[in-house]
Amino acid sequence: MTVPKADDPTGLPVSAPNIVASPAGRSMIRVRGMTRVYRMGDATVHALSGVDLDIEAGEYVSITGQSGSGKSTFMHLLGCLDRPTAGTYELNGQLVTRMTDAEQARIRNKNIGFVFQTFNLINRTKAIDNVAIPLIYARERRTRDRAMKALEIVGLKHRWNHKPSEISGGERQRVAIARAIVNEPSIVLADEPTGNLDSRTGEQILDIFDRLNAAGTTIILVTHEMSVAARARRLIHMADGRIDADAPVTDALRTELLQSAVLGAAHFEGHVLTSSAAGIKNKKN
Ligand SMILES: Nc1ncnc2c1ncn2[C@@H]1O[C@H](COP(=O)(O)OP(=O)(O)OP(=O)(O)O)[C@@H](O)[C@H]1O
Ligand SMILES: [Mg+2]
Repeated sequence: MTVPKADDPTGLPVSAPNIVASPAGRSMIRVRGMTRVYRMGDATVHALSGVDLDIEAGEYVSITGQSGSGKSTFMHLLGCLDRPTAGTYELNGQLVTRMTDAEQARIRNKNIGFVFQTFNLINRTKAIDNVAIPLIYARERRTRDRAMKALEIVGLKHRWNHKPSEISGGERQRVAIARAIVNEPSIVLADEPTGNLDSRTGEQILDIFDRLNAAGTTIILVTHEMSVAARARRLIHMADGRIDADAPVTDALRTELLQSAVLGAAHFEGHVLTSSAAGIKNKKN
């Protein structure tokens, strides 16, 4: 099934994702008491301290918070790239935390696309082969056709035979997004996807996320930039390994987030948020 969109700059349809219905009354993502403690010799770091969160299919959520507040740790856990020290994670009614590594890898491959700040492409490999990697892991057929289609969705079909060193930063991130969506996952997790890009190139990346979300893909995006956070429909703020604010992005909040470059700060659920390269500075009112 495909969902064409009239204002799509590439004029291309975005495939609808592999949405698996959750059991009645259950959210697609259901996290309870999620905790991650890193042990460093004798020292322990409480990166995540008992997070509870529900996310429904089709949501677009942005996560902000100071550097070190646990955002990436949380994204890795949601993406089944890591296991919590305590707590539970249910995805489409399945208890991920009970699964073996192989089962988790299967769930990840089918349901989750990951986009990183630093693209994480294989440098000596052409764009099309980078994009095809999840298909090859999943032992799928028609890998080149499908990789080409994913490149087409991000507007990069014409660069299929370029290596990452032969394209721009924004194009690299588009290849990384094509790789993330090639399996038509129901969830795309993006950790600072525009962090290494200028604002105009970042806009192009965010336009792709908008289109994916319009076609039904759930987007969870970590960002330090207020203008990026403003694109979501729900904003979560983290501090010290906890979620301390979680609210819809109303028109008023969106306007304030967008104006924060001029006003200096946006106000969110008792926090004063300011964009910064080093992280969102936040001050409890
Ligand atoms: N592999 C690790 N081993 C030990 N400590 C870690 C590890 N990864 C992260 N931490 C620590 O856990 C805490 C949370 O880190 P995390 O990377 O989740 O923060 P973040 O909110 O993503 O920060 P940033 O905005 O700078 O990316 C930090 O104190 C960090 O130093
Ligand atoms: Mg991080």
